[in-house]
Amino acid sequence: MTWEPQEGPQTAFVKSEVFEVVYGGARGGGKTDAALGDFLRHAEDYGPAARGLLVRRQRVALEPTIARARKIYRPAGAKWAEAKSRFEWPNGAVLYFRYLDNDADADLYQGHDYSRVYVEELTQFPSPAPVDKLKATLRSALGAPCGFRATCNPGGPGHNWVKTRYIDPGPWRTIIEPFRNPFDGSTASLTRKFIPARLADNPKLLANDPGYIPRLQQSGSAELVRAWLEGDWNVIQGAFFDKWSNRNIVAPFAIPHDWLRIRAFDWGYAAPFSVGWWAVVPEAVRLPGVRLPRGALVRYREWYGTSGRPGEGARMEAEAVARGILDREAGEKIGYPVADPSIFSEDGGPSLAERMRRCGVMFRRADNTRVGRAGALSGWDQMRARIAGTEEGPMLVVFDTCRDFIRTVPVLQHDRMRLEDLDTTAEDHIADETRYACLTRPLLPKPEPEPAALTADQRWERDWGPRRRAVESWKVI
Ligand SMILES: Nc1ncnc2c1ncn2[C@@H]1O[C@H](COP(=O)(O)OP(=O)(O)OP(=O)(O)O)[C@@H](O)[C@H]1O
Ligand SMILES: [Mg+2]
Repeated sequence: MTWEPQEGPQTAFVKSEVFEVVYGGARGGGKTDAALGDFLRHAEDYGPAARGLLVRRQRVALEPTIARARKIYRPAGAKWAEAKSRFEWPNGAVLYFRYLDNDADADLYQGHDYSRVYVEELTQFPSPAPVDKLKATLRSALGAPCGFRATCNPGGPGHNWVKTRYIDPGPWRTIIEPFRNPFDGSTASLTRKFIPARLADNPKLLANDPGYIPRLQQSGSAELVRAWLEGDWNVIQGAFFDKWSNRNIVAPFAIPHDWLRIRAFDWGYAAPFSVGWWAVVPEAVRLPGVRLPRGALVRYREWYGTSGRPGEGARMEAEAVARGILDREAGEKIGYPVADPSIFSEDGGPSLAERMRRCGVMFRRADNTRVGRAGALSGWDQMRARIAGTEEGPMLVVFDTCRDFIRTVPVLQHDRMRLEDLDTTAEDHIADETRYACLTRPLLPKPEPEPAALTADQRWERDWGPRRRAVESWKVI
């Protein structure tokens, strides 16, 4: 039997001529098989010029992949050479199996050359640095086309960077990145593509192993299992806003004129700034698929000031930001604005707030409490309570056009040292701005339910029951 890709993403993966292809999503979607099958074809086509390297984070995890590869490569006559940890084809092609634990391991590959690099379980790498270093090994003096291929599942320490780089730009799209050669000024381009994996695209597994889905369902938290089954990158383990779900995302609609509008702002120059426009639902409304209770906040527009690279600011002056705000809200009546208190600080010259005021954009100082004092719902608690909502519906929703909110907020994680706060090393500017907006309209904690009125018998039992039982238990001697 020779290996053939299944219809759908596996076929797209092995046929892809794009330089960098990441195949990610559901567990058991057929990603590892596709990577092994891809090299099988590459080895047949390019013989001795086909030099592959397959890496994973841990050595032990390579074993099952090697076992599977033996089955797939045997019909082509390829043999496993244990001492060199590689498969060798009769036509001269080779595929190395290695592990890559950290940055330093990647340095060991300096000077190697490969025509194919496969990284398995990309999201197990907390940072892209070691993986990116491997790209320098992609070169072929013998003329085989070079390509980087990776597979991954949602979740894991690298979830966020993988999602930002590969998933957020949109699946199935080929992204072209132009580069300039510093020596002769010529330009070249690299291409990149993300292929989503779904379990449904691996009918062979579902037919041969009907117990697979029930077993998967027992192996992790409900969110993680959903992420694994559906290949959904928006649900992840350990999310700070763990009640976030699709019901917090709504299709845009025209905000009625009489709804109160709030503008919230978090300043940034080297880091991104964030402006969010929120409307307050005056009376419960029903939208397609969701009901919004009275008092819910609707994020209907956003402006995220970034250079385009994750976590990097647009480096715009306060005046330019003010003008951008006025342009975006032309003709709108803002009920009140609120901003990061740091913009009010005067450091020799006029404060940022003052400079923006001179351009016609006012702000009020936000309440900046992040974490609640005993019993009080404040800062993040308010935002979480709004996202969770009530039985009537979510108290915070965003238009699906607010892409940067949807990209950055649901994936924020807990701070490891201070679990009640979020991990501020991630892109948290939109979350901060949202927190300012939420704190201007705090939700009140639910009042304790009134104790139900007691009947006369219950009152008697409460006051006298224990004493009577004690008396009854006395022994008469
Ligand atoms: N084209 C194919 N032909 C035969 N079997 C296949 C094919 N594709 C996948 N399979 C089988 O489906 C099962 C799951 O595939 P695979 O291990 O590639 O999934 P995966 O997406 O890498 O999973 P994980 O996310 O757990 O790493 C394997 O047992 C594999 O043998
Ligand atoms: Mg796999």
